[in-house]
Amino acid sequence: MVLVILFYALQITLLACAGIFMWTWFSGGPYTPIPHHIMESIVKKIDLQPGQVIYDLGAGDARVLIHACKKYKVTAIGYEINPIVLLVGKLKAALARCGTQVHLVLGDLYKAPLRNADVVFVHLLPHGMRRLSRKLLAELPAGARVVSYGAQIPDLTFVKTITVKKGKLTYPLTAHVYTR
Ligand SMILES: C[S@@+](CC[C@H](N)C(=O)[O-])C[C@H]1O[C@@H](n2cnc3c(N)ncnc32)[C@H](O)[C@@H]1O
Repeated sequence: MVLVILFYALQITLLACAGIFMWTWFSGGPYTPIPHHIMESIVKKIDLQPGQVIYDLGAGDARVLIHACKKYKVTAIGYEINPIVLLVGKLKAALARCGTQVHLVLGDLYKAPLRNADVVFVHLLPHGMRRLSRKLLAELPAGARVVSYGAQIPDLTFVKTITVKKGKLTYPLTAHVYTR
């Protein structure tokens, strides 16, 4: 009897995980976090200033925001639709003592208000970038920068590409920086 219950519990868990994966894939991109060493090199090159506001749209476990908050004393805001990943991010932010500077919202990144953004970090699939580009053009304040890890963003003004030294893993090694 216990084995039967465990079998069904496992099946339901696997189905839920597959459902969340598909849902987030269609919505912008599934949870595939940027490796820490690549993230740190990219953030180092975007010249964050204390007090600036950085967004991560599809924040995952908030690694970008926690690092930016600890190292560069910025205010960090993340939108994430996967509640499990969001909870992990909240725990990590609390453990890193960034609970008051890192604000994590359970919600759709396409509905995030961006009028106070200095920097927007994104790491989504190309179809997510296409959808996001309209919003960025409409809402970003003048001078704000968008940093896209991996995919390019159509219609924004390209500023530069940041290239990271190759590590052991085969991950994308470039981020593209844009303004409105
Ligand atoms: C590729 S991961 C990037 C995570 C993090 N930014 C990083 O670089 O480590 C994309 C994240 O976006 C989230 N996501 C996808 N569509 C979303 C949406 N419409 N609104 C909010 N988050 C979304 C996924 O759940 C996933 O955690």
